[in-house]
Amino acid sequence: MFRIAVCVSGGGTNLQAIIDGVRQGAIQDTEIVRVIGNNRNAYALERARQAGIEAVCVSPRDYEDRERFNEALLAAVDEAAPDLIVLAGFLVVLPPALIQKYENRIINIHPSLIPSFCGTGYYGLKVHEAALARGVKVTGATVHFVDRGTDTGPIIMQKAVAVRPEDTPETLQRRVMEEAEWKILPESIALIAAGRVSVEDGHVKIVTENADEKK
Ligand code: GRF
Repeated sequence: MFRIAVCVSGGGTNLQAIIDGVRQGAIQDTEIVRVIGNNRNAYALERARQAGIEAVCVSPRDYEDRERFNEALLAAVDEAAPDLIVLAGFLVVLPPALIQKYENRIINIHPSLIPSFCGTGYYGLKVHEAALARGVKVTGATVHFVDRGTDTGPIIMQKAVAVRPEDTPETLQRRVMEEAEWKILPESIALIAAGRVSVEDGHVKIVTENADEKK
């Protein structure tokens, strides 16, 4: 059984898409073994509990300094013994030790078509405010492996979403979540769980199904 730990900070709609994907069989042979949040009020933790998934909160407020928090976060992940760590709206800068230990086993969903509107300071509504301010006609979402940078790791999957003239940051965020994030995150997890994703020279290779048939 492929084990995933999901890290959350907010409403947990991306977590819910993964929960639903596992339940409905879109993500096979996979178990969400732990949900880790940095904010005890995050509704994402309630979603985990309602789904019968262990939910733990590791809040910076509970630790005397960043180093102790980083150690606690790494311990909370290690206890879950995950094959894959999924950052689903997780707004914490990961400790380098975690990224090093789980190289190419951490993925993140970002609400733009990287390399646009990403990097430090681009999260949540700010991403969509920047897209509207620039006047782009197409935006979308990206799933990528996490490396030491911010939103700089190898790209696994992207999905485009048209920007409408009447869009506000809120309407655009909602549509990017509905039409892109909630689709490509579960789809990426399903491919990784099926062993069909690899990273070669910093680029992601996905084995298509018909390639399997050739074996
Ligand atoms: C959303 O803006 C999403 O694009 C980003 O994190 C935010 C919260 O998502 N990845 P969620 O509802 O907590 O999954």
